[in-house]
Amino acid sequence: MNLAVLGAQWGDEGKGKIVDLLTPRFDLVARYQGGHNAGHTVYVNGVKFVLRLIPSGILHSRVVCLIGNGLVVDPQAFFTEVDELGRNGINVENRLFVSDKAHLILPYHRDLDLLSEARRGERKIGTTSRGIGPAYEDKIARRGIRVGDLADPKALEQNVKDNVLARNRLVHDSTMDWHVVLGQLLEIGKRLQPLVRDVSLMLHDAARAGKSILFEGAQGTLLDIDHGTYPYVTSSNATIGGVCTGLGVGPRAIHGVLGVVKAYTTRVGEGPLPTELSDDMGKRLRDSGNEYGAVTGRPRRCGWYDAVAVRYGVRINGLDALALTKLDVLDGLEQIEICTAYRIGARTITDMPSDVAQLAACQPVYESMPGWDRPTKGVRRFDDLPENARRYVARLEKVTGVPAALVSTGSDRDETILRDDIIGTRLSGLHLK
Ligand code: IMP
Repeated sequence: MNLAVLGAQWGDEGKGKIVDLLTPRFDLVARYQGGHNAGHTVYVNGVKFVLRLIPSGILHSRVVCLIGNGLVVDPQAFFTEVDELGRNGINVENRLFVSDKAHLILPYHRDLDLLSEARRGERKIGTTSRGIGPAYEDKIARRGIRVGDLADPKALEQNVKDNVLARNRLVHDSTMDWHVVLGQLLEIGKRLQPLVRDVSLMLHDAARAGKSILFEGAQGTLLDIDHGTYPYVTSSNATIGGVCTGLGVGPRAIHGVLGVVKAYTTRVGEGPLPTELSDDMGKRLRDSGNEYGAVTGRPRRCGWYDAVAVRYGVRINGLDALALTKLDVLDGLEQIEICTAYRIGARTITDMPSDVAQLAACQPVYESMPGWDRPTKGVRRFDDLPENARRYVARLEKVTGVPAALVSTGSDRDETILRDDIIGTRLSGLHLK
């Protein structure tokens, strides 16, 4: 079975842990969009790994990891991560490959990211400043530089020169020397070259050989360039369509879709967040959930579970099941709220509005559930959860419309409830390995 695992909220849902946990059931793990703006945190035996660009499956030595054409790759950041893994005893040789069609993030993209944010002033997006947006802009404008171009230094020279000169004009300084950028790129290109592949073809061959693939998403549905809270989004398709375009596979290659959702809601960066809590409760969630960006260290905005947003994620991605994470963060709360609808003016709506200004005007409609005092932290069987925690999960499933096949009760791999009955009915192929 090939499974897509993606975020159904605003990112940071805990995809890294879920992908790492499921990886032993797959032969390949392939990322399909984004770049090193992602920060997938995985704890193995208490050791913390933060994967930015490299698929979270890399921690399993048997598995081949692929970076698809839909990503934007900063080669410097890529090798920093490879070296970091190496220092921790994770060897990526012969099992980490990069699409020749993936676009490169070069130093000028970072400057342009900062410039664009500065120009927007009050209306800034709150990007990760990694050059993600400008690299995708170049791709769409057909002036981007692809990984495969590293094999043709002549063409590369012209493109790097044009792009650096354009950057100097826009930033109003000429401190960036295209010779230097080109020199560094050619140097790092030599190291990248042996890892470059036709990833679409590799996936096709793997599928024909009966191998199974996990498609790993980054960011989340509401940060998707088309379906998210535009313009407060990232510049790629984090939703299910991104799997096909970002890897070069057909829709029938996706046999199941697992949406990762937190038991509450967070967002980092600007843009509306209807259930945001600006009071002590927001702080309580941030502190107990350690809600600080894995990449930028920025505090995340926190709020109650927003079923309107997740239902939207279910619709856009055709989710088969949920992986519900961070249930333990709610331990000890007296009362927990669930947003089931929005109120806008005199109207109550149950679907996400398309327009960001309308979303910003929405007030959450809550229903309350009693909390639980016995901790859920580390619980591994659903029946061992406190009754009110089970009722909370059941209520989330009901208002979201999709069952939770996995429930995460802590950051370590083992701190997870695998609900075999739901996996069996919703994601049946997962049993195969
Ligand atoms: P960019 O992807 O750096 O252009 O940032 C655009 C928006 O997406 C900002 O609000 C970021 O905070 C957000 N964003 C990008 N990557 C992630 C992520 O991995 N998790 C959560 N938010 C992200």
